[in-house]
Amino acid sequence: MSFWKRLFPGTEATEDSPRDTDRITFSTDRAIDIYELEELCDAVGWSRRPLRKVKKAIECSFCVIAMYEEYQDRRRLIGFARATSDHAFNATIWDVVVHPDCQGRGMGKSLMDRIIAELRSADISNITLFADPHVVDFYRRLGFMSDPEGIKGMFWYPD
Ligand SMILES: CC(C)(COP(=O)(O)OP(=O)(O)OC[C@H]1O[C@@H](n2cnc3c(N)ncnc32)[C@H](O)[C@@H]1OP(=O)(O)O)[C@@H](O)C(=O)NCCC(=O)NCCS
Repeated sequence: MSFWKRLFPGTEATEDSPRDTDRITFSTDRAIDIYELEELCDAVGWSRRPLRKVKKAIECSFCVIAMYEEYQDRRRLIGFARATSDHAFNATIWDVVVHPDCQGRGMGKSLMDRIIAELRSADISNITLFADPHVVDFYRRLGFMSDPEGIKGMFWYPD
């Protein structure tokens, strides 16, 4: 069953009534439906986070990119990424996610290209991220390097 049919039963195209082409759009608006974002994160199996904190993280991010699939007057969040920054030199990209139904179609790359373009347009040149082990090659393909010049990411966690 197609993505849209699952989301909006009765919207499947038929030979007699062909459906409009789905349109992919991007938005930098922070007014994201937090519940829709949570559903997207659930769909890729991420652990739930307190919504109050997710909302605050979005509000305080330097930029966000939301990717929507649109059909007629409806739209569905299918991808998301955000970045924090010191607004001058450095930015870190977080929460990169594409809905499983839409993966493997170049959407993750588009999302990353957009957020990098957004950061470069603010003249930020040092862009970092933390890659889960299974996506290291996804980021490598986009030009990210692990441990450049031997630099190691270090973490501190409360006991
Ligand atoms: C990682 C993720 C964003 C990739 O999105 P996607 O839309 O499937 O990726 P794309 O189709 O744009 O892939 C772009 C390229 O990367 C490759 N690629 C995609 N996922 C990959 C992976 N996990 N490992 C290695 N290469 C990968 C694709 O084959 C493609 O290669 P090509 O340009 O040679 O054709 C998506 O799989 C996802 O949301 N995963 C779950 C959440 C997650 O793990 N996020 C990262 C947290 S650090």
